Amino acid sequence: MGSAIDILGAETISAVRRPIAQARGLPGVAYTSREFFDLEQRELFPKSWMSVCFVEDVAEPGDAFPVVTAGVPIVVLRAENGEIRAFHNVCRHRATIVVQRPEKRLRHLQCPYHAWTYGLDGSLKAIPYFDGTPDAAGSGIDRDQYGLVPVRCGVWNHIVFVNLDAGAPPLEHIVQPAAAELAPLALDDLRLGHRLTWDFDANWKLVFDNWEVYHHVWVHEGVFDRMSDEVDLRTGRPYTDSIANGDVMLLHVRPDSPRFADPGIPELPPIPQRNGTQPFLAAAVAILANTTATTTLQSYQPVIYTPLSPSRTRATMAWYYASEALDPKYDELRERSLDRWLGPTRKFEDRGGIRSQDFVCMQLQQEARGSGVADEVLFSPTWEANVQSFQKWVIERIESGDNRSRNANL
Ligand code: FES
Ligand SMILES: [Fe+2]
Repeated sequence: MGSAIDILGAETISAVRRPIAQARGLPGVAYTSREFFDLEQRELFPKSWMSVCFVEDVAEPGDAFPVVTAGVPIVVLRAENGEIRAFHNVCRHRATIVVQRPEKRLRHLQCPYHAWTYGLDGSLKAIPYFDGTPDAAGSGIDRDQYGLVPVRCGVWNHIVFVNLDAGAPPLEHIVQPAAAELAPLALDDLRLGHRLTWDFDANWKLVFDNWEVYHHVWVHEGVFDRMSDEVDLRTGRPYTDSIANGDVMLLHVRPDSPRFADPGIPELPPIPQRNGTQPFLAAAVAILANTTATTTLQSYQPVIYTPLSPSRTRATMAWYYASEALDPKYDELRERSLDRWLGPTRKFEDRGGIRSQDFVCMQLQQEARGSGVADEVLFSPTWEANVQSFQKWVIERIESGDNRSRNANL
């Protein structure tokens, strides 16, 4: 199997790492080839904290939610004590998927093949008739050895993350720069108001290549209409700082931005803010490799991006509001707040909101990435520091995996 150097070449990798004005972006093959996607599935996603679902998917004890991340089947469970846990969704008898679809209020998990039965803590409870008798008491199987295999799991602001790498830093450590950015907001108190899933025809990396505001006025017609809102036209300095810190990328709107005058939808109850914090307008955080969370004054919008293939990505989107804003008397205003993201028709192809506008643009990029002239990609030093940082992060993460695999084979 190819390494990053085999697929991209050493020259291409060093071009991504040059000072931004001289740097060149990842070439088309990184977006279109099955080989590079397989490398990411093997070396990048399994070593990153990957979001897989929202806490509402496992709202009650006994709720079970099967997911696939990095090609690996996992089940997320709410245990009796309320804790959220994750396990490999693979029966320990002869490896069958145990939980096939989302389930509610289970007392235990039972494999559909020969009915091996597991507790909500993953422990193996029953192996009926394994030795021909109902309780299989004489089977000689040590049940403590054959529970479901646990996966590292964590929750941050309503999002459930897993990590397949036992050696990865803890989730709390990874999300710290994002947590600091969102610190003024009491996000725990919010409630889920809307969900929607869209698949689109673009490589997952184009989502994070898009963590810049240079495209705003051209892509987000009807939402971001004035260049003077994006950049101080006298100095050429954008009002949004691009900040990359470990696995987190921020688009941090500075208080001198004209956007601070934008009240959003003031009749809708706002996200509660913590006492004594700075006035807050909006935040946009990306947690690599597959999570984004943006906020406005009235709502918090996390998105889970699931890479499905080199050229297809699923966006599982959620909108959270202050609990008072869930009152039916605000139904219409909440709908109006969704217009900004999904457009008035809610149809992807109408490109009426931020999400469809971005995803359609990513599809155009994906199509272009198949061209032979797509290998020389430039970055604007003024706007696109995050894009370069993200691409350097991709190479670094893959190379560190490559090295670890190589050392393990020595
Ligand atoms: S494979 Fe699960 S019980 Fe046999
Ligand atoms: Fe955008």
